[in-house]
Amino acid sequence: MSKYILALDQGTTSSRAIIFNHDGEIKAIAQKEFKQIFPQPGWVEHDAMEIWTSQASVAAEVILKARISAENIAAIGITNQRETTIIWDRTTGKPIHNAIVWQDRRTAAYCDSLIKAGKEQMVKDKTGLRLDAYFSGTKVKWILDNIPDARKRAENGELAFGTVDSWLIWNFTNRKLHITDVTNASRTLLYNIHEMQWDKELLQLFDIPESLLPAVKSSSEVYGYAEGNISPYRIPIAGIAGDQQAALFGQLCTQPGMIKNTYGTGCFMVLNTGEKPIESKNNLLTTVAWQINGKTNYALEGSIFIGGAVVQWLRDGLGIIRHSADVEKLAATVPHSDGVYFVPAFAGLGAPYWNQHARGTMVGLTRGSTAAHIARASLDSIAYQTMDVLKAMEADAGMPITELRVDGGATKNNILMQFQADILNARVVRPVITETTALGAAYLAGLAIGFWDSIESIAKQWQIDATFEANMEPAESQRLCKEWARAIRAAQAWTQ
Ligand code: G3P
Repeated sequence: MSKYILALDQGTTSSRAIIFNHDGEIKAIAQKEFKQIFPQPGWVEHDAMEIWTSQASVAAEVILKARISAENIAAIGITNQRETTIIWDRTTGKPIHNAIVWQDRRTAAYCDSLIKAGKEQMVKDKTGLRLDAYFSGTKVKWILDNIPDARKRAENGELAFGTVDSWLIWNFTNRKLHITDVTNASRTLLYNIHEMQWDKELLQLFDIPESLLPAVKSSSEVYGYAEGNISPYRIPIAGIAGDQQAALFGQLCTQPGMIKNTYGTGCFMVLNTGEKPIESKNNLLTTVAWQINGKTNYALEGSIFIGGAVVQWLRDGLGIIRHSADVEKLAATVPHSDGVYFVPAFAGLGAPYWNQHARGTMVGLTRGSTAAHIARASLDSIAYQTMDVLKAMEADAGMPITELRVDGGATKNNILMQFQADILNARVVRPVITETTALGAAYLAGLAIGFWDSIESIAKQWQIDATFEANMEPAESQRLCKEWARAIRAAQAWTQ
């Protein structure tokens, strides 16, 4: 009897593999960072081959680390950075261009032109998304328009498009499967989330041939097998979900009204809205949460483009810390940011502002400002952006949100979590397993093969590690939020 599930979590800055046991506990983790490519300001790319090789290598490594035989892996669940766009040659299996990452802004002007032409409402009605460079559709068009012969080859059926899940599965199954799941499809701008199919009118609008597209599957079923590339055994691939949807599932937010916030490269707050898509009146996205046993569940999402990535920038861009984990120590050397506010709009601003052209802005610096104040302001920026999204969620939900389940790397940072609770004036709850993205993918795969028998049985595995209660005078938090709003206005004023 197989005892484990292998979750592959292909994120924006690293490829990870985690083995979970039947109790939902972590047996082993392997992780590899990979190269971020910035060819021009506002452009972000990954080498698609490196995405694949790093993911395959951590998958093999984690099995060694766990000291188990791959025979004991019952299934693989895949979760991934969403929207990132790859087009490859079906015959050679080679990508025809670097992956264009979700943070990439190169198609912002094209999106603006479509908005001007009055197309946004139609796109929103069908996809639940906005006309923003964030999503895959305009990135696909960019590759077809800019890589020699790409359009012709696409029309001849020689090329395949996929988000990262499709690309990995194509490779893990030795090019047998060209598929995606409903959650990833729902982030492309090409998928109708009401009819649950690729939308002909949208394909026409973005001038994308249908032959490029993967088949769309549910989030939990046996799609095929990883053969010979992780281990000599055939291991069923049985779960796929975009990372934020997987995290919602891993947090066991399986009932309508339940909400989580994941602190990864970006921050993504997702509210389960049940079996009906709800249109946001407050600049959030409507998206597919998952599809299991033919039932589709929807969600509202607030996407913040730069969350934990701000810490990476302190390390790699500014060089004021050596390791990401050092940020907490540095920030703790000062009691507050001393009036410094940092809006890390490196990739424009996502929810709820949606300004494709805003850029990073630091305000309030004085001669007395130090690296510690900047570190503190950077952490604060994660909490403030989350607060703005939570307010939009509350407005859409028509009720206050008093508790937020949190996960992701940055939730280990107690300073940040306490400040988050203070500024939200809500309880912040951190579960024992903060690797909820991978856990969600594992659950989806395990449910498909009967490793777990029901959502109810896995729901019992969710346990609290720490609770952070709001502990700031309301007058003080209101003052800070007002200042933050001024900083946001400054970042938007920089818009070209
Ligand atoms: O929509 C982008 C998101 O899926 C990226 O997630 O965890 O890589 O920041 P992450």
